[in-house]
Amino acid sequence: MTGYEEVVHHREPDYSEAQRSLIARLEADLAIQLERKKHRLAHSLSVASCAEGLALAYGADPFEARLAGTLHDWDKALTSEQVLARARELGVDMGVDPVLVVPLLHGIVAARDLPVRYPEVPSEVWHAIEVHTTAAPEMSPLDMVLFVADGIEPLRQKSPGIEETRALVGKVALPDLFWDSFVGGIIYVLKGSRYLWPGTIDTYNKLAAARAGSGA
Ligand SMILES: [Fe+2]
Repeated sequence: MTGYEEVVHHREPDYSEAQRSLIARLEADLAIQLERKKHRLAHSLSVASCAEGLALAYGADPFEARLAGTLHDWDKALTSEQVLARARELGVDMGVDPVLVVPLLHGIVAARDLPVRYPEVPSEVWHAIEVHTTAAPEMSPLDMVLFVADGIEPLRQKSPGIEETRALVGKVALPDLFWDSFVGGIIYVLKGSRYLWPGTIDTYNKLAAARAGSGA
C-alpha cells in the first residue's frame, strides 16, 4: 500500500476529455472566486490533489475526490456576515449561537448553492463538501477522503496530530485514518480552548459506538 509521500506525489489518473475539461473549468472558476485569498486557493488545489491520491490509494473515486477538494472551500470567499446570512436564508439549523458555528457553515452553504451552478457534478461530491467541516455519523469513503485530505494536505503546517495522521496513510484502513483525523481535530479544538460544536459530540459518540460494534 502507498504511504503519504506516494499519495501526495501520485500520478493523475487517465481521465476522459470531458472529465479533464470539467476539472479545468472548476479550477479556473475557483481562481476567480478566491482571487483575493491566494492561500485558500493554493490550499484548495492541494486538498484536491491529496484527495485524488487518497482515493486512488483507498479505492474511492479519484475524479469525485478531485472535484470535492477543488470546491470544498468555495464559500470561504464570503465574509462571516455573508455566510451567516446565506445560512439563515437556506434555513440551516445553527443551534443557540449562530456566531459560534460560522467556521462550520461554508461547507453546508456551498453544498446547497453550488449544485445549481454545476449540475453535472455528482451528488456524492456535494455530500462530501457538506460534511467536510463537521463530519457525520455516516461517512462514505468519499466523505472520509475529503475530510482527511483537508486535514493533512502538504501545505498544512506540521503539528503532532497532523504528522500522526500522515504517518498512518496506507498503513491503516480508511475508516481508521478518518477516525484519527477526526479525533485529532477535536483534540485541537479542545487544546485551543475553542468552541466545540455540540453536534460533534453526538457524531463522535455515534461513530465510537459503531466502531465498538464493529470490533474496531
Ligand atoms: Fe479546507
